[in-house]
Formats: sequence, structure tokens, C-alpha cells
Amino acid sequence: MNRTIIIGTVALLTALSPQTLWAQIYKDRHAPIEERVEDLLSCMTLEEKVLQLHQRTIGKNKNSNNIGEKIKDIPAGIGSLIYYEDWPEVRNDMQKKAMEESRLGIPIVFGYDAIHGYRTIYPIPLAQACAWNPSLAEKACAVSAREARMSGVDWTFSPMIDVARDPRWGRVAEGYGEDPYTNGVFAAASVRGYQGNKMDSKENVAACLKHYVGYGASEAGRDYVYTEISRQTLWDTYLPPYEMGVKAGAATVMSAFNDISGTPATAHPYALKEILKGQWAFDGVIVSDWAAVKQLVPQGFASSLKEASLKSIRAGLDIDMVSEGYLNHLAELVKEGSVPMEEVDEAVRRVLRLKFRLGLFERPYTPESSESERFLRPQDVAIAERLAEESMVLLKNKDNILPLTAGKRIALIGPMAKEQEALLGSWKGQGKAEDVTSIWEGMRKEIGEPDSLLLYAKGCDFEKEDESGFAEARAVAGKADIVVLCLGEKRSWSGENASRSTIALPNIQERLAEEMQKTGKPIVLLLSNGRPLELCRIEPLCDAILEIWQPGIAGGRPVAGILTGRINPSGKLAMTFPYSTGQIPVYYNRRGSARRHQGFYQDITSNPLYSFGYGLSYTTFEYGTPRATATTIGKDGTVTVGVEVTNTGQYDGTETVHWYVSDPYCSITRPLKELKYFEKQLIKAGETRKFHFHIDPLRDLGYVDGSGKRFVESGEYVISVGKEQIKIEVK
Ligand code: BGC
Repeated sequence: MNRTIIIGTVALLTALSPQTLWAQIYKDRHAPIEERVEDLLSCMTLEEKVLQLHQRTIGKNKNSNNIGEKIKDIPAGIGSLIYYEDWPEVRNDMQKKAMEESRLGIPIVFGYDAIHGYRTIYPIPLAQACAWNPSLAEKACAVSAREARMSGVDWTFSPMIDVARDPRWGRVAEGYGEDPYTNGVFAAASVRGYQGNKMDSKENVAACLKHYVGYGASEAGRDYVYTEISRQTLWDTYLPPYEMGVKAGAATVMSAFNDISGTPATAHPYALKEILKGQWAFDGVIVSDWAAVKQLVPQGFASSLKEASLKSIRAGLDIDMVSEGYLNHLAELVKEGSVPMEEVDEAVRRVLRLKFRLGLFERPYTPESSESERFLRPQDVAIAERLAEESMVLLKNKDNILPLTAGKRIALIGPMAKEQEALLGSWKGQGKAEDVTSIWEGMRKEIGEPDSLLLYAKGCDFEKEDESGFAEARAVAGKADIVVLCLGEKRSWSGENASRSTIALPNIQERLAEEMQKTGKPIVLLLSNGRPLELCRIEPLCDAILEIWQPGIAGGRPVAGILTGRINPSGKLAMTFPYSTGQIPVYYNRRGSARRHQGFYQDITSNPLYSFGYGLSYTTFEYGTPRATATTIGKDGTVTVGVEVTNTGQYDGTETVHWYVSDPYCSITRPLKELKYFEKQLIKAGETRKFHFHIDPLRDLGYVDGSGKRFVESGEYVISVGKEQIKIEVK
């Protein structure tokens, strides 16, 4: 370079403010993300940084808990918003304000709760788990991501992967049941589905693993309350799904509302800083749950919003969702020296990284599109329908009463028969009741004309004591060959803030079942609900029971397909159905008792009515003897176990094989058995198929102690599959 050029360059550089220089770099789409983040961060003021960590709402909110805000009230430099509209217009207007009126033109990231679909609503997550088909769940998440992103949402607050063993807790509907591994598998599948290979595509969104951590342990199923969780249980039960979700590349995590043995999750340094950001090297964003920073005050952990903000940021919480604690106190906390600037920078760095990863600097606006381009495309509805089919669980089928034989006159009785809204389940996103096929409509279409084969009476409402419809229900049942009794829960009975002291159906519904039994007609019970139910009184009254969950828009179509035999049910429970509420908590992966022959309930059975993994088919499967490639292995060796499964019945059927591991004696006691792998295959009638489980001793046979260290001990392990077992020795 000659002298003149050097002098010229130096002069030019001196003339440009540092901000202009940096601005050129962070706006360069070809620069590496980390460089862009650092460039931008270095030219932000403290006030601008604080705004990036502040989240509010925008748009019309259909959830009565939360009130949306208008553009004019929102500062241009805000970091993120929860977006309640279902089209991009309002987003784009607000984004324009951010891009044009804020000093640095940092785009806003818009989040929303698309939990089991955005507009094309598929079954609740608990039901999805019962389908044991993570790749189908992944496809459903991809549909949800596409609909959301095209409507102005960049970030979904999903999946919820809180292991839950108390069905009184309404939020069991939102997760994948009682097993840590199952929750982890679906966490990873959801992350893949939402985020795809590249989050900056026009059809992907950032995922959010929630609620970190242990929210499912809420005492007695009451929402938002204390949770007693030892470090060992944290590692055994509640952390594994998050570790799997983080490994799958989740972009964000939401902290939980619960108090974990004295330290609320919102401000839990061990969970947030040490494990998530430290041990697991998570480089994404941690957002609080709704107003959770503020709620540290009623939780007794902070005496003011300022102290709550101090404890949260210092514990590693990046974004304050709607509390306004960071907004009002963070700058002051930094200025007085209570919060180091580096900690604010670290939080902002993560928010900016998310925005770059989402491609928001390049494409801040969402193109306008018609509803039909975005929503309910036939191929997306087909996924929702298949997922619903596979999630339904046949719990009872006395004398093979199902599938129904053609030509029978069917009486559809009960408050669920013509419901659409209830079948959507909680967190229905932008779903609409009119999109849902009711059970009645599904049956009408399935059996076609004549309608004379399908009769109907509501019988009673979901609750209250009005029996005035019983007489009509009895009369209609009297004219039919079979009663299909449609009972269950209203949409609002499960989900957030929907705890119940009993998981039995309301008395009026049980009485309707008794009335139907008195008619002497065979009874097929269809149940739509967001949690396991207490069925000990109803079960003996029915010949068959089909758990249809809250199936989303497909609703009655798969139900009708199963009743008529077009579809062979293949769902298996991901959460135990207790015999009665008093047994709660009852789950399969408990630890052994000191006296295995004693300690039972004196008044009822100690066994649940239907255990984890239970579910019938129209066909029968026979498991062969499992075989292993070796019966003794070293700690760093591997072994594959396999089993042949034969379809011995008349129908083609799909079987999910569950592989469990037990470590009968260990330095710390282990659960009686733990699910470590599952696989689902279609097996034609008469056909035999092979299933395999590739065992990595440390991952599958080992355990994590209370400090997070993983071990595998020498000794004998039992691998069970169906009713079969095989032993493996680790040396
Ligand atoms: C829920 C979260 C949800 C958030 C935002 C909270 O009340 O616990 O699951 O993501 O609201 O809507």
C-alpha cells in the first residue's frame, strides 16, 4: 500500500464514528454471526441493552389472562414481543417502528404459544406421546412452524417437556407423560420440526424448551406451587429431557414458575448458570415464564421487584417476560455496581445471537399471504389426522366387540358426541372450533347413508346435576344395537391453571353411564380428556373403552375409523391411569419398596387401572425370546439386543416395542425399570419383524448421581421387552 492510500484510509477511519464503523459490520450478512453479535453489542448503550431483555405483548389476545398492547405504547428498541394476531400486518407495522425509529435498527423477535399446532391443531402433546411416533410429531411441529412464521411469529414457546406424575395437575396435557426418556425423545423431535436445518428459513421458528425445571413436581397437582426436588431426582427425572432437547439444538429455554426446594426456578443459579449454560454449554436464550420475575416477591424470595431482577439476572435469566423488572431496575443495578456489565452483555449477546440465527436482520418483515396459503392445507391436515389416529388408545375390548360389525344401529350418547371446541384441548393457538370434525360428524361420514343407522341423544351436560336428558337417552339407546357413550372433559378443564382435586369424571357423567348400562345394550365408551382419568366405577359398566384424548381438528374422523375397523388402534399410554385419585402419584418407574409383599392399600388395589405402555390392538402380537450379540461386555463396549415380534391375529397392526433396563443392585437405588428405547413398526397379519436396541453402557445402563456425573457400574443388568427378559453383564 502506498503512503497516500494509508494516510487517506487513516483519515477516513478517523472521520467515521465507531458506531458507523461497527454498523457496517453487524449489517453485513456475510460476516460470521458471532462477529456481528460482538460488533453490535459494542455500540449499544446500557439503556438499549436493557430493552433487548424486556418482553411485552402485542395484538388482540384471546387468552383472558393476558392483555395485549398497542404499537404506540411499545418502545421502538424493545427486544421481544408475544404476538397474538394471526396475520403479519401488526407485526410488520411494529417491526417498521423498530427498524426505522430505534437508533440501531435491531429487529424485534415475536414469540407465541403454538403448543400443538398454530391453526391446524393436532392432538395434545400427551396424546402425541401415546402415538410413539416422534418423526410424525416432528412433521406436525414443522406444520405449526410454517403456519406461525408465515403469520408473523418467529419463536414458539414449545415443547413443554415437564415430566409429570400427578394427573391432578392440568398441565399434564401439554407434556409427554411420566417418563423422562419419552419427554426427551419428543423434545428432540419438536426441536427438529420447529427449527428445521436452518432457523432463518421462511418456514421455521425457534423452539423453546419449557418449563425449566421440575414444574411437573407441583405439590398435589396444584399449579404454580412449591416443588420438593432433591438433586438426585432433578438429575434422574426432571433434567434428562432438557439435556436431550439442548443437544438437539433448541434455540431457547423458558424457566419455570416453581420453587425448587427453596430456590425458585426463575432465579436458580445452579439450574440456569451451572447446568444449562455451564455444563451443557447452552448458548441460546433463557426467557422467564409469564411475570415470573415479579412473582419472586409473593414466593418470598425477593422483597421487591428490584431485588427480584437482581437475583434473576445474576442467576442467568436473560429475558424478563412482562414483569418490567429488568426494564425498570437493571440499568440502576448496573450503575450501583450490583450487577456486572458483563452479565448484562452476556444476556444481550444471547438475544442478538437468536435474532441473527433467525435471519431477522436480513428479513425483518413477514410477507403478507392469504389464509388458504398458510392454514389447513390438505397435506397438513393429513398429518394431524394420522397423528390423531395413532395417538388413540384402546383400553378395553371385551369379547372383541370392536370393531363394530357393519349394519348395526348405533346410538351416540353423551355431551361429547357433537362437541367441536372440547376436542381442540387447551392452548388451541389460533385453532377454531369450526375446523374440528365432531364424533357425530365423523361417524356420519364414515358409515355414510342411511342416517337411520346413527341415533343421537346428549343425555346430560359435562357437569352439574341436571338429569332431565336421561329419559331421551334411554329411549334412543333402546332403539339401537349398541351404545357409543361419549364422555370426557371440557377444553378448559386441563392446561394451565386447571388443577383438579379428583380426576374422576363429574358425577352426572358417571350416572349417565349407569343409565346406559341398565338398558342392557353393549357399551363402547369414548373418552376425550387432557389427563388420565379415574375410571374404576365406569370401567365395569363398559364393554369397550377408547381413549381419544383431545385429538385436535381431525376429531371424529379417526375415531370413526377405529370404531369401524378401517384403522387398527396402536396407541399405548405415556402416562399411567390410576385406579383412583387416592393412588396418585402412581407411575411405572418408581423405586422398589423395602417390603415388596406388604405396604399395599387396605381399601383398594395398589395397582393402577392401566399402566404406562398399555394399549390394545385388534390383532395380537407374540414376542420371541430376546437375543444379544454378547452377554458380557466391558464398560466401553457395546451390545445389540433383538427380539422377533409376530402378528398372530387377523388384522395388520402396528406395534411399539418398549425396551426397559433394570439395575437390580447399584451404589444408589435405581428405578425398578426405566424405558431406554422404543421402536414402532407395521407388522402385517401373520408376519414376523425384528426389533433392535443398540446399547451404549454408559448412556443406557448407567446413572447420573446428584452432582450430574454419569457412571456405569460393573454387574448384572436386566433388559426387558414385552414379558421377556435378557441379562447382560458389565465387567
Ligand atoms: C405459561 C407458559 C407460556 C407463557 C406465555 C405462561 O403463563 O406458563 O407456558 O408460554 O404463559 O404465554
